[in-house]
Amino acid sequence: MISDQHLVSVANITKPELLDYFESAERMRPKRRQTHTPQHPRKTLIALFYEPSTRTSCSFQAAAIKLGCKVISIADKMSSAEKGESLEDTIRTLQYYGDAIVLRHPMKGAALRAAAVSGVPIINAGDGNGEHPTQALLDAFTIYSEFKSRFEIDLDSEHRDVITIAFAGDLKNSRTIHSLIRLLTLFPKLRFLYASPPELEMPEEIVNYVGAFNTYDQCKVGDVKDAIRQADVLYMTRIQKERFESESAYLAAMSHSELYSVTPDIMSLAKPQMLLMHPLPRLNEIAVEVDADERATYFKQVENGLYMRMAILDKIFRNGH
Ligand code: NCD
Repeated sequence: MISDQHLVSVANITKPELLDYFESAERMRPKRRQTHTPQHPRKTLIALFYEPSTRTSCSFQAAAIKLGCKVISIADKMSSAEKGESLEDTIRTLQYYGDAIVLRHPMKGAALRAAAVSGVPIINAGDGNGEHPTQALLDAFTIYSEFKSRFEIDLDSEHRDVITIAFAGDLKNSRTIHSLIRLLTLFPKLRFLYASPPELEMPEEIVNYVGAFNTYDQCKVGDVKDAIRQADVLYMTRIQKERFESESAYLAAMSHSELYSVTPDIMSLAKPQMLLMHPLPRLNEIAVEVDADERATYFKQVENGLYMRMAILDKIFRNGH
């Protein structure tokens, strides 16, 4: 049994905890620029990344610095993993140097393996095509706060209309989606649409997880045009080249990528109040011309990521770790 000091999956997050995360992230917002008494000056965060990352890695490090922590950052090629050291031995070592470890790893289940041997909290920053709980927290926070501040809609209310959330692109490999959709099942009255190439469909594990609630309608649609016409939130994803077995399989999937890309023309089919989201990095899934559209929400996600990661670290360090 893995202790709950870790953040490996969204599976154990309860509704009150999620709303606490949202409130705490909101409180972090003004601390981005303001000088404030740093909350955790005696803590050290270790960022251990075995896969490329810009936002997740840097936002965790920035969040730690803003909370007054020290940061040790270690990337794949510089670690003893290059010499063949096991993940477990690396974690057993690093636990003596820091108070929490943020881990990104190409293998599904890696964060759980790390948590099984770690004396300090493990924060899963993406494990292969498994989960990405901190991205899901910031994405859910973005949906919740945008609906509230822009449209005066409470995501948590039973008395609103059904909200349709569409996911498009590489639904098979997008760990951000796998975590986000699980987290969204904490809210009522949602409907989910899935638009993907046939070989990149939503994994059965996720469809069954959502289906087990018996309250959410899930529907496969043909392409992004079908999705955008109905969506209140459209969450785009990159076709994840690094998860394919061969270059030719990747190229075959990319050959229909145009059907899963948003251009200004396609945006003209969307509702005036839709949120267009993407965890980034983007390739051709969203044309840069769409960035000026006020429905484009992906750089707000980036900003919110900093506040959410401050909230996550603050919670972990306040709990005495
Ligand atoms: C995503 C990831 O790494 O899973 N990026 C992120 O963390 N913001 C999405 C991706 O790489 O496509």
